[in-house]
Amino acid sequence: MAAITYKNASCIYEGSDKLAVDNLNLDIADGEFVVLVGPSGSGKSTALRMLAGLEDIDEGAIEIGGKDMTGVPSKDRDIAMVFQNYALYPNKTVAENMGFALKLRGVSAEERRKKVENAAKILDLTEHLDRKPAKLSGGQRQRVAMGRAIVREPQVFCMDEPLSNLDAKLRVQTRTQIAALQRRLGTTTVYVTHDQVEAMTMGDRVAVLRFGKLQQFAAPNELYDRPANAFVAGFIGSPAMNLVTLPIAPGGVKIGESTLELDREQLSKLTDAGLSEVTFGIRPEQLELTDSGGVEVVVDLVEDLGSEAFVYTHAGDVELVARCNPRTAPKLADTARLRRHPEGAIHLFHPQTGERLN
Ligand SMILES: Nc1ncnc2c1ncn2[C@@H]1O[C@H](COP(=O)(O)OP(=O)(O)O)[C@@H](O)[C@H]1O
Ligand SMILES: [Mg+2]
Repeated sequence: MAAITYKNASCIYEGSDKLAVDNLNLDIADGEFVVLVGPSGSGKSTALRMLAGLEDIDEGAIEIGGKDMTGVPSKDRDIAMVFQNYALYPNKTVAENMGFALKLRGVSAEERRKKVENAAKILDLTEHLDRKPAKLSGGQRQRVAMGRAIVREPQVFCMDEPLSNLDAKLRVQTRTQIAALQRRLGTTTVYVTHDQVEAMTMGDRVAVLRFGKLQQFAAPNELYDRPANAFVAGFIGSPAMNLVTLPIAPGGVKIGESTLELDREQLSKLTDAGLSEVTFGIRPEQLELTDSGGVEVVVDLVEDLGSEAFVYTHAGDVELVARCNPRTAPKLADTARLRRHPEGAIHLFHPQTGERLN
């Protein structure tokens, strides 16, 4: 187990003119489960591979357990990786697959068997130890790949989209298992995914990347409640936060003919920034239907999920999504009224830089 520090770490691929990872700073505590999340191409895998010693660190440094890893080859970093394509040896049994790294390391057969059996117990693979991978389900194969990493008892787990090959239901189950397993083992883990739900449900803290740059590094609820910029606000949460650029009017912001009121503190932030418009954000569950007042909207789509419904609407060219009770949801093309839930949080972002203002 070990803490990990990225110190102004950058990576640029040969022949490219932009940094794949741009001046990354992260302090990861010993035993922490950190998720790197972001859209495709945002530098997640590169950042992980830099940690694992599979890509050069062109600027800055990465430390594991307080030791600078510059020049330390991958095999000497005491890291175990689990990738999306966790190719298992088809001709080896589950036990042989799991113990192979130990065999290469010269660990005795008896010791290997003990470690493999322990890991198999944790992963619920005991009865499959003598099978070949072809005889296993996708989820079981995924667990063998985890087992292969566990038996090495590394200081750090690096996982790059390890669940991408599983179907949706299995992915949900397996992510819970991996998170529980990590907590039990207490091994510092850096986990890469493009799936914000996976990030939010698994990580102690989540680092959001975009264009190789860190956007925010925080606990899931903080990312959700106080996104640092408009990108994080739109990326975390499903359906996404309503984010619209609105003109500032006396007392609030204008949506069509209506004014959505802001409190004094929010208004003064806007005045201080000298803005005439603002990127206004509110989550769908923090808008509600109302009979009077609020903003008049036209209903474009109702997504009924049984337990809840999402109403997609517009007012002029402003689109707003609201969550409501499916039993009382309006119908397509209805006119409805939306207002902010009394406790609903409003998020204000600079219309050009996207930085949070309130
Ligand atoms: N081997 C490579 N050679 C050149 N460019 C690469 C290579 N691998 C990744 N890149 C580029 O680096 C950036 C970050 O890629 P990557 O770390 O794979 O992103 P992610 O894992 O978030 O999808 C992207 O612009 C990608 O095109
Ligand atoms: Mg990747």
